[in-house]
Amino acid sequence: MKIVHVENYDEMSMRAARTVFNKIVESERVVLGLATGSTPEKMYDYLVDMLNKNKVDLSHVYTINLDEYVGLGNDHPQSYHQYMNRIFFDRVPIPKDHTFIPHGDAPDLEAEVERYEQVIEELGGVDLQVLGIGRNGHIAFNEPGTPFDSRTHVVDLAETTVNDNARFFDTVEEVPRQAITMGLDTIMSAKSILLLVSGDEKEEALACMIDCEVSEELPATILQRHHDVTVIADDEALE
Ligand code: GLP
Repeated sequence: MKIVHVENYDEMSMRAARTVFNKIVESERVVLGLATGSTPEKMYDYLVDMLNKNKVDLSHVYTINLDEYVGLGNDHPQSYHQYMNRIFFDRVPIPKDHTFIPHGDAPDLEAEVERYEQVIEELGGVDLQVLGIGRNGHIAFNEPGTPFDSRTHVVDLAETTVNDNARFFDTVEEVPRQAITMGLDTIMSAKSILLLVSGDEKEEALACMIDCEVSEELPATILQRHHDVTVIADDEALE
């Protein structure tokens, strides 16, 4: 695991954007695994600027997102569909049919998770997976206790996660209690992983991810077993 220690959120975002940008321009075809949440927001801003300034053609780029809330339609303002449109897809010339996110309002959730795994397989797997980390050590929406061999599945969100994500909703009651998420084994199948960590509220989870024994109680520890993980973390997260 390679740890890149940066000063602050801005530098983390710039470095991450450059890594993704380089991957895009150096590849003939690339599948990016994308994350949501506050952490990657500025990375997307920088990436949009870099892509547009350099007039990069994106017809060789495919994206697959980690997760989506159960029960939110694709046009719900707090859905990850809308997040991705707002922050990235609507700002760059990526073909919309190259972008994939689970459907949280699918009538048959079990069929939806199977469909999603098939999409990943048909794309040929993820080349570069961008990740954040939850305060409780979750990655995507894989909460503590999620089996390491899990593929895309439906999860019940931990109370801490519901509370942490309440800031995006008007009230905590509006936060969905379930999500569809890529599993830990799905994430580990990515060829390389870029984990972004910023802020002192992530300090404990990050320290444990690096040093604790690998355990399903802290899902992110599984990353210790991946052969190509780069962590970009800022001062506050590493202190
Ligand atoms: C969310 C997302 C994760 C994200 C994490 C941290 O619940 N499902 O993909 O990495 O929690 O979010 P944030 O970056 O907002 O702290």
